[in-house]
Amino acid sequence: MTTDTEFKAWRVHEKDGKYEGAEETRRIEDLPDNDVLIRVSHSSLNYKDALSASGNKGVTRNFPHTPGIDAAGEVVESNGRPAVGRQVIVTGYDLGMNTDGGFGEYIRVPADWCVEMPSGWDARTAMIYGTAGLTAGLCVAKLLRMGAVPDQGPVAVTGASGAVGSVAVEILAGQGFKVVAVSGKADQADTLKELGATDVVGRDALETSKKPMLKPAYANAVDTVGGGPLAELLKQIHPGGSVACCGLVAGPKLETTVMPFILRGVNLLGVDSVEIPLADKQAVWQKLAGEWACPKTEATARDIGRKDLDKALQAFLKGESSGKIVLDHSL
Ligand SMILES: NC(=O)c1ccc[n+]([C@@H]2O[C@H](COP(=O)([O-])OP(=O)(O)OC[C@H]3O[C@@H](n4cnc5c(N)ncnc54)[C@H](OP(=O)(O)O)[C@@H]3O)[C@@H](O)[C@H]2O)c1
Repeated sequence: MTTDTEFKAWRVHEKDGKYEGAEETRRIEDLPDNDVLIRVSHSSLNYKDALSASGNKGVTRNFPHTPGIDAAGEVVESNGRPAVGRQVIVTGYDLGMNTDGGFGEYIRVPADWCVEMPSGWDARTAMIYGTAGLTAGLCVAKLLRMGAVPDQGPVAVTGASGAVGSVAVEILAGQGFKVVAVSGKADQADTLKELGATDVVGRDALETSKKPMLKPAYANAVDTVGGGPLAELLKQIHPGGSVACCGLVAGPKLETTVMPFILRGVNLLGVDSVEIPLADKQAVWQKLAGEWACPKTEATARDIGRKDLDKALQAFLKGESSGKIVLDHSL
């Protein structure tokens, strides 16, 4: 491997306030100066990649840029850790934001961004879960730490057909929870039931109401959408229950009252998958490769090549994406 070795990357350029992505040839020397060079075989598609690719400056400040907030592949150069030849997973920190990401065939990152591949897994399997699967696992882990158990009652999952939501549904169902999937896509109801949801309800179940509290319907919840639906969800959580909140597709604003917190002791739990310690990520990856494995999600993941990225990212922005999509650099 020399610094002028060429590779392909899907790069986004800014032109007259518009953002367009296309495949380009790059050189290893173009990558940032970090310890570990990784030959990326797979990356996972995420809502945040769509934000980066569409010029959201809260995600990516400078263009041209290679998105891809996660990546898996083989270490080809390092200072010893992780060792050359090892398969690794990189998610979060600055990858794909302002550091060239997994939509390129190579990335160069700090050693302490790299999680060793759990045994028995390969890069594609890891990227079926990707950042979304990791986030779903972190949400479940937080609910369990708060004492959530199946016999307390149903767990709601919002944005259930999405990348985070669908994995949350399958993990929770696999752990014996009764899962109510909240989804705006009626045509995904059967798929959500196959993942283990006991019930599928429309987004109207969380339509804005004026009342500060509603009849308790869910023991706990994983919320991937934020905004108005999260405010409504909080009104419907059983006394002492918790909501793990990780997303904002319905909006970043949370307009609520303190009533669910002070009258029912409801807990709102923030979940970040990006800047947390590597050991916390490693622990959830081990769970996903073991007792939290999602065989149905794994069986239904779709593989795409770089030429399909534009269309797939647009679907995220329109809220039309469903299931898990893996970028395979060999396609
Ligand atoms: N905190 C973290 O570290 C972290 C990590 C990963 C992702 N996230 C965030 O989590 C959220 C979900 O990510 P994702 O990758 O799962 O995205 P996604 O695949 O696009 O899924 C989001 C789902 O939300 C629902 N939805 C879309 N627009 C909506 C709207 N206006 N109102 C209500 N529901 C809507 C849709 O599901 P239905 O049609 O089934 O309702 C959609 O499939 C994003 O905000 C993302 O940025 C955060």
